[in-house]
Amino acid sequence: MAVDAQATDTHPDAEADADVIVTDDLTKIFEGRGGRVRAVEHLSLRVRRGEIFGLLGPNGAGKTTTVGMLTTRVIPTRGRALVGGIDVVARPATAKQVIGVVPQTNTLDRSLDVAENLYFHGRYFGMGAREAHDRVRGLLEQFRLADRATAGVDELSGGMAQRLMVARAIMHDPDVLFLDEPTSGLDPQSRLALWDVIGELHRRGQTIVLTTHYMEEADQLCERVAIIDHGRLLALDTPEALKKSIGADTEVRIHASGDLEALARELEQVPGVDSARVVDGTVYAYLRAGGATLPEIITHADRKGFALQDVGVKETTLETVFIDLTGRELRE
Ligand SMILES: Nc1ncnc2c1ncn2[C@@H]1O[C@H](COP(=O)(O)OP(=O)(O)O)[C@@H](O)[C@H]1O
Ligand SMILES: [Mg+2]
Repeated sequence: MAVDAQATDTHPDAEADADVIVTDDLTKIFEGRGGRVRAVEHLSLRVRRGEIFGLLGPNGAGKTTTVGMLTTRVIPTRGRALVGGIDVVARPATAKQVIGVVPQTNTLDRSLDVAENLYFHGRYFGMGAREAHDRVRGLLEQFRLADRATAGVDELSGGMAQRLMVARAIMHDPDVLFLDEPTSGLDPQSRLALWDVIGELHRRGQTIVLTTHYMEEADQLCERVAIIDHGRLLALDTPEALKKSIGADTEVRIHASGDLEALARELEQVPGVDSARVVDGTVYAYLRAGGATLPEIITHADRKGFALQDVGVKETTLETVFIDLTGRELRE
């Protein structure tokens, strides 16, 4: 099955078809008066058809730049990206047809009502009037906006506006839906409502790429997660496999006074403690299943003369994975 690189652009072979997104050494370096910013470097990954794929990383990690390159808004400095088998740099206009985007900011048209925001998007993408009207009706139902069809977009709550943005992004039935920090700034209830919407789209077979700096969101919603920091891909796997990779299943957080580094070294001497480290004035100890217990840790610290102020225990999370990879917390 020999397919040359050019042919792949227009006639995706079976493998390229299973992978809706393929990036190869994708890199963006911004050159400005302040110097060079290596926003994304050497990004090579594949997103499978039908999956929810997460890009997890803190502010400035390069998430929006990555989405920008995959959606033709940002021109890569180097490397290549295929979306739906189409080279996004060589054929941006064609690529746009197979891409739906919900950017980080509200880009709804305030001169149009809710239904019109969907309708004209469909017409812009070549839908006939009848087809567009039918699709608008269906989407308003699906996104629980039917009773708001003639409302102005300024009258919508943050959660409703965000649902409308998602509905508009899939109006033309794209191969891939990109959601850039979709729940950022939403209240907890609206966040859950949007998670429902995203889950429903996934069940209908929509391929979704979402960026987030919320590790719970990546953990609960995404089938595979790419952890990125400073423009670099640090790890890529299922949330379960990422958490398993750190070799411990319990995280103990300790607030104490005194020499925290010394306390961390002491705790590492306790059998069953996988590792311990200090991050931002907190001591973290990672325990293997069936290993050390909390009382053993506290007793050991007491005996060595450390005064513990506060101790918390929880299962390891993607936050733990991020700390393990970077030595920093995901959230500042
Ligand atoms: N247009 C731009 N010009 C210069 N630097 C930029 C531009 N856009 C983003 N950056 C820089 O690139 C890095 C990655 O930014 P971004 O992709 O927005 O990260 P994230 O979405 O993960 O917060 C940051 O250091 C940011 O300041
Ligand atoms: Mg961003």
